[in-house]
Formats: sequence, C-alpha cells, structure tokens
Amino acid sequence: MNILVIGSGGRECTFAWKLSQSDKCENLYIAPGNAGTTAYGENIDINPNDFDQLKSHVLDKKIGLVVVGPEDPLVNGLHDYFLVDEDLRHIPVIGPQKHAAQLEGSKEFAKEFMYRHNIPTAQYKSFTRETLQEGLEFLEEMKPPYVLKADGLAAGKGVLILENLDQAQKELQEMLGNRKFGDASSKVVIEEFLDGIEMSSFVLTDGKDYVILPNAKDYKRIGEGDKGLNTGGMGAISPVPFADETFLNKVEQRIIRPTVEGLKKDGIAYVGFIFIGLIKVGDDPYVIEYNVRMGDPETEVVLPRVKTDLVDLFAAVADQKLDGFELELDERSATTVVLVSGGYPEGYEKGKEIHGLGEVSDSLVFHAGTQLKDGKTVTSGGRVLAITSFGGDFKEALKSSYRNIDKICFDKMNFRKDIGFDL
Ligand code: AMP
Ligand code: GLY
Repeated sequence: MNILVIGSGGRECTFAWKLSQSDKCENLYIAPGNAGTTAYGENIDINPNDFDQLKSHVLDKKIGLVVVGPEDPLVNGLHDYFLVDEDLRHIPVIGPQKHAAQLEGSKEFAKEFMYRHNIPTAQYKSFTRETLQEGLEFLEEMKPPYVLKADGLAAGKGVLILENLDQAQKELQEMLGNRKFGDASSKVVIEEFLDGIEMSSFVLTDGKDYVILPNAKDYKRIGEGDKGLNTGGMGAISPVPFADETFLNKVEQRIIRPTVEGLKKDGIAYVGFIFIGLIKVGDDPYVIEYNVRMGDPETEVVLPRVKTDLVDLFAAVADQKLDGFELELDERSATTVVLVSGGYPEGYEKGKEIHGLGEVSDSLVFHAGTQLKDGKTVTSGGRVLAITSFGGDFKEALKSSYRNIDKICFDKMNFRKDIGFDL
C-alpha cells in the first residue's frame, strides 16, 4: 500500500519511521516532511491545507491511506473533503471530520460535550463580547487563580492563568473586547482552576471501538523547573510513573469509554486519534483538554513503545475492526528530549548546520524543524530534533538521551536538562 503522511514535525517523522518498518508499506510520502523524513520516504512539497494539491498527489501516486499529523487540516475539513469527492471517498483518512475536530477547535464545544456525557472536567462558563460585563462579574465570584481560555485555536497560546482579579478582568477585556487572539477569542471560556499533576492518554478509535496507546507526560515550558513561556513541548516520558493501574482504570471507565460512547450517542463519526490532556487531582482524573491528533513530542515516546505493525493497526481502524485488536507494547520506558533553536519560543534564527547526527548510538533521532540544504542538514524551525531513548525506567532512558545529545550541536542549541524532574 502507498501511504501519505501529512505534516512536517517530530510527530510526523515518528509516524514515517514506524510506517516504513511495515512490509505492507510500499511507497511512503510525507507532505511536506523535513530532512529526517527523507530517510523513510519521499517528501512532497505540498502545504497540508492545500486540499486540491493533496488530491492530485493522492490520485497520481495511488495512495491507499492518509495519516494526518496536525490538527489544522482536520479542523479545516480535510477528511470531509475526501468524503464528498467521488475519486477520494474510498481512501481511508486517519483523523476526524471537521465537526468532530471541534473537540480541539472549540473549547466550548469540548466543554459542552463533557458536560453532556458526565465526563469529569473543571466547571466553566463561556462569554462573548455581548456578555463581557457578565464575564467580569463572574470572575468576581471565583477564587484565584483564574483560568481564561480563548475558544478557538490560538497556536497553543490561548490559555491564560492569572493570579489576581484585576489582571484576569483586564485580560478578559483584552480577549473579548480587543480580540487579543483574533477570532479565536471571540468567545472565552472561564473555568475553575484544578490543582494537580498533568499527563496524557492517547486513544485510537474507529468510531465503534478503541485501543488505548501508551500514556505520556510532556514538559511544555521552555525553562527548567517548568518556568518560563509555553512551547510546543520540550520533552516527554512514557509510561507515566504515577499512573498506576487503579488510576488508569478510572481514566478508562470515567473518561475514555464515555468519550467514545458520547461521540456515538451524539452521532459524531470519529476515525482517528483522541489525545486526552488529563490532570490528576487527589486520586481522580479530570479532562483539561481534548486534541484530535497525537501529541508532539508525545508521539516520539508513544509510538516507539508500540510493537504492533502500524499499517495493520490503521487498516483495522479503516475497516472498523478494532474490536478485540490487541496492541503489543514494549514494556520499557521511553524518554525524548527536544533540542530547540536559541530564542525559541520567541524569535530565533534558522539555517544553522547540525553536526554530530552520525555519531548517535542507541538513541532514535526524530527530526522536527530541519531541512536539507546543499547536502547538509540545517535548522528550519524552533523545535529542531527529538532524541528518544529506552531504559528500564525513565531515568535510565534519559541518561541515554542526554549522553547522545552531547554528541550533537548547532549554533545556539538549547534543551531542558531536567525532563522528568517532578516525578
Ligand atoms: P489547554 O490548552 O486547555 O491544554 O491548557 C494549557 C495548559 O493550561 C494546560 O496544560 C494546563 O497546564 C493549564 N490548564 C488549563 N486548564 C486548567 C485548569 N482548569 N486548571 C489548571 N490548569 C489548567
Ligand atoms: N505536546 C502537546 C501537544 O502536542 O499539544
């Protein structure tokens, strides 16, 4: 089968790495891919949101399966585009349709879904420009810290957690009144602050049944000790040590099952990954957010722990045959550490030559923001590489990642030296 992976990050590089190991994968294409994905398939220079160009390529190369990495094309209706096209509708797309993608694309849609299906989450109310005054008064009734969320996609920047009422009211005004996040903040969800430790669960569903993938915890802040600005993710570990069997049972019974059942009850077709951002408060799990895709860099630790042939797994999803599907897992721990460009997540330079990749041993190197230029691998984004390793526990795995990172360098390279510090 010929397969197309859509996206260009570390997540897509990991998909490409894993899919290329299957003897059922004949030709693999990545649109647009990065320097690393060229080791596993052919990069195609198409923007993931250019559906017409994707269609030409899919027909031209006789693609039999499309795997969508990022949320953008899903929220923009890529899967729907396939379903209404006579030439494309028979080709399976891993990733939900536009309506279901609202679980990530709209915080309010997600909250209403959770309330409707009794899925534990923080209490909330949502406000628009017209109800700004009520929003300001609602904040006065709440206790700090205050959690304000832009309803729409805001490139991971739309959530504000504020310590005092003044600040919170000012920000609400900025978001609703002055459109701080553009259209994304034309609606704002204000919710109760949950105090706990975060982790994520990953589910793959065919719309009827589901499999649970290895769980993971990521480190989103740029600075050590979880300080500083939010990033896409600076590292991840899997499995999460504090997620014991009792806790994971609660996650499945209270959250995963009601989520998949809820989609069915609401008549929302869903084929693809559900990434559930969780917070453990006391001994109980609550949903912080849904994403309609895999996480990045979580994919870089989740997929290496899946031994099952990924083409077989996706074929089962496409054929709605997940019922009884057994995943084979690697019981070892996996960690990944992300190497980023100096200055990220603010301004940074690109085009820096990356040295030492050939010297890495017993770690996997997944490329994110990299590009081939005149035969050299150079940086082309904020997050550049993810260095994944295995170990008996996450500490052992981390040692291996850090040992290999010592062999890699590019000008102004930065990374967190404390992944897993809180465990
Ligand atoms: P989200 O984009 O919804 O995942 O929010 C981004 C981050 O804000 C989360 O990863 C949490 O660290 C934090 N956060 C979001 N909602 C809450 C909440 N209700 N209570 C505490 N922290 C939250
Ligand atoms: N690492 C968080 C995300 O992919 O959204």
